[in-house]
Amino acid sequence: MKPIKMALIGCGRISPNHIAAVKNNADKVTLAAVCDIDEQKALSLLQTFDLQGKVPVYTDYQSMLHKVKPELVTVATESGYHAKIGLDCLEAGCNLIIEKPIALSIRDADRLIDKAQEKGVKLCACHQNRFNRSVQKMRETLEEGRFGRMLHGAAHIRWNRGPDYYRQAAWRGTWELDGGALMNQCIHNIDLLRWMMGDEVSEVFAYTDNLNHPYIEAEDLGVALVKFRNGAYGVIEGTTSVYPQNLEETLYLFGEKGTLKVGGRSVNRIEEYRFEGIGEEQSEEVKRRYHETPPNIYGFGHTPLYADMAAAIEENRAPYVDGQAGKRALELVLAIYKSAAGGLPVKLPLADCGTTDFKGRFD
Ligand SMILES: NC(=O)c1ccc[n+]([C@@H]2O[C@H](COP(=O)([O-])OP(=O)(O)OC[C@H]3O[C@@H](n4cnc5c(N)ncnc54)[C@H](O)[C@@H]3O)[C@@H](O)[C@H]2O)c1
Repeated sequence: MKPIKMALIGCGRISPNHIAAVKNNADKVTLAAVCDIDEQKALSLLQTFDLQGKVPVYTDYQSMLHKVKPELVTVATESGYHAKIGLDCLEAGCNLIIEKPIALSIRDADRLIDKAQEKGVKLCACHQNRFNRSVQKMRETLEEGRFGRMLHGAAHIRWNRGPDYYRQAAWRGTWELDGGALMNQCIHNIDLLRWMMGDEVSEVFAYTDNLNHPYIEAEDLGVALVKFRNGAYGVIEGTTSVYPQNLEETLYLFGEKGTLKVGGRSVNRIEEYRFEGIGEEQSEEVKRRYHETPPNIYGFGHTPLYADMAAAIEENRAPYVDGQAGKRALELVLAIYKSAAGGLPVKLPLADCGTTDFKGRFD
């Protein structure tokens, strides 16, 4: 099979992870073009990978789609542009990876999902932490039925983002293009919690606030309680105010017959593994084996995500993290925003709702 022709739109902070993932899947995917409205960013991205002069650079994604005709496009622009650019790529018949969050409103997420279906192409939401070795082990353990009945799960995201991070890009923390700590930083773990607890949420109650970041519009703290349709509960605690640096991104699952904790800076190591019928030695062995130390909080997940997307295209099946998965994570964050804004529990599924509904909330 010839490698799939891939193009990247948006050459900012996360873009090197995408280029590295393509390089690591060179037999399956090849980089055909990069695009950024800021040409310098595209050029310096290529330079980082010693690709200058070898891969064409565009500043207008429509002309790139027209000339290069990529089979796969990745959208890694500001979140508020994902839907518009993504729809244009789908319209052009491209398979699509969209950085998280897939969109900023339910309506836009639905549009993307429907358009991918209409065009017969694959849509993947970039929740790469699903591919962490520790998270994969958690999923495998769950699918083996080792937990028995699920009782509750807890997602803690205790990170730090300060003025320097927000100064780098004015879109961050705005309702129009981003959202706050939950929509941007915490959505990975919120995705994992929902996925592990059976996906179906019946109700959410939450508080959100901006306690420590007066220079952004959206929240820097969210605490939420989640009721799942299977009778289990969830707790979410997410913040970007932890002093003085990122502390942890941790997911606990508690079942009738098992306890599993994945911790580390970004859910990359198993820290507790206790199950009926599993002895101390075996449990220590799991903790030793499922332990990764990535160079940054983005982890190693982009590479297997691209491998899976290439296989999904080749085998004509849904990607491991499809558009619906992206929508479910988005929906849970929006439900938290809605509950916090209204001071009331919110039932799911959510009718249309988007980040711009919350403009002015912390002014
Ligand atoms: N998966 C992860 O772990 C992860 C980590 C960081 C960021 N992200 C997501 O990735 C996206 C980008 O984040 P970032 O921090 O890299 O942002 P960034 O601001 O560093 O980069 C965004 C780039 O998109 C470019 N751009 C904007 N409009 C464009 C257009 N029409 N055509 C071409 N390029 C355009 C901008 O010029 C900029 O260079 C966001 O949605 C963010 O939530 C995901």
